[in-house]
Amino acid sequence: MAPTFTNDYRHFAVTKGHGTKGLSDLQLDSLPEQYIQPVEERLDMTKVLKEESIPVIDMSNLDDPNVADQIVAAAEKWGFFQIVNHGVPVEVLENVQEATRRFFALPVEEKIMFTQDKSPTNSVRLTTSFLPKVDKVLEWKDYLSILVSDEKSSEFWPSACKHEVMEYVEKSKLVMKRLLKALMQGLNVDMESKESLIMGSTRINLNYYPVCPNPELAIGVGRHSDVSSLTFLLQDNVGGLFIRKMETDTWISVPPLKGAIVINIGDALQILSNGKYKSAEHCVAANGSNNRISVPIFVNPRPEEIIGPLPEVLKNGEKPIYKQVLYSDYVKHFYRKSHDGKNTLEFAKI
Ligand code: OGA
Ligand code: NI
Repeated sequence: MAPTFTNDYRHFAVTKGHGTKGLSDLQLDSLPEQYIQPVEERLDMTKVLKEESIPVIDMSNLDDPNVADQIVAAAEKWGFFQIVNHGVPVEVLENVQEATRRFFALPVEEKIMFTQDKSPTNSVRLTTSFLPKVDKVLEWKDYLSILVSDEKSSEFWPSACKHEVMEYVEKSKLVMKRLLKALMQGLNVDMESKESLIMGSTRINLNYYPVCPNPELAIGVGRHSDVSSLTFLLQDNVGGLFIRKMETDTWISVPPLKGAIVINIGDALQILSNGKYKSAEHCVAANGSNNRISVPIFVNPRPEEIIGPLPEVLKNGEKPIYKQVLYSDYVKHFYRKSHDGKNTLEFAKI
């Protein structure tokens, strides 16, 4: 049942499991107050630089050392770049996007079977906002998160998207390895010996950002950096992803580019590289006219790994900025608080 009092919106979206999609379907005239962000958490469009953009890297020539140099340079300067000619077939990308739309279009009775209380496995979870029990103001987004590396649980994944998710993850592995290899080379680190440390676990999110009344007052995803080593993100043609330009109070849009994948450095790689590679702060604006989906794959260290600046990086006498932390502790810290920019990294600072 649709809520009758404004106070019921949180209950309707969070507890009843309708999410922001359920709210959007009500075609409300105005944004419920539970979603009105304080001014400093909204995206100020006057701070968006129109004339700058993140690099677009053509991955087609496997052996060109120039490609590796571009990847390293982008990871140092921006923490974000797009890749084209990456080798993941366009049908695979389209299929996972279609599967995402199919999942969120399911009746609420079917979707709530994947919320925290009901999900048949801890590895699959449907959530609205970021941390609905913690977020004072809710984010205008629903997401299904699947821990892919827990293969045992795949029998419980939603049938609306299971096959497409598996194929997308599988087909993306090679390019992720190539990217990480280039990045490790840039640190004089041998990738083979670090594979389980850097890419020991994989999570995929299916993000759904429905049409929002008063999008300028809301946020799709609040300012944050990812806790991953590397994030591999497929966005549709709606747009709305913005990154903070390093050490400034200005933002840059990540424009949709057909067939491209957005890559960003996560906190784990910033820590491992002792700050040479940067995890950029980013956010997603809400949209007043279009539903938006995105499908990030988070390539993460294994939870039981200890991460800290790699010995190869410190060999030249460089002082470590970060301490050794258990990766699962780092992730727990991230999930204890609402999005707050790059502050999660303080947890690992010396
Ligand atoms: C995320 C994220 C960006 C997007 O899920 O961590 O930043 O474009 N998503 O949806
Ligand atoms: Ni993110």
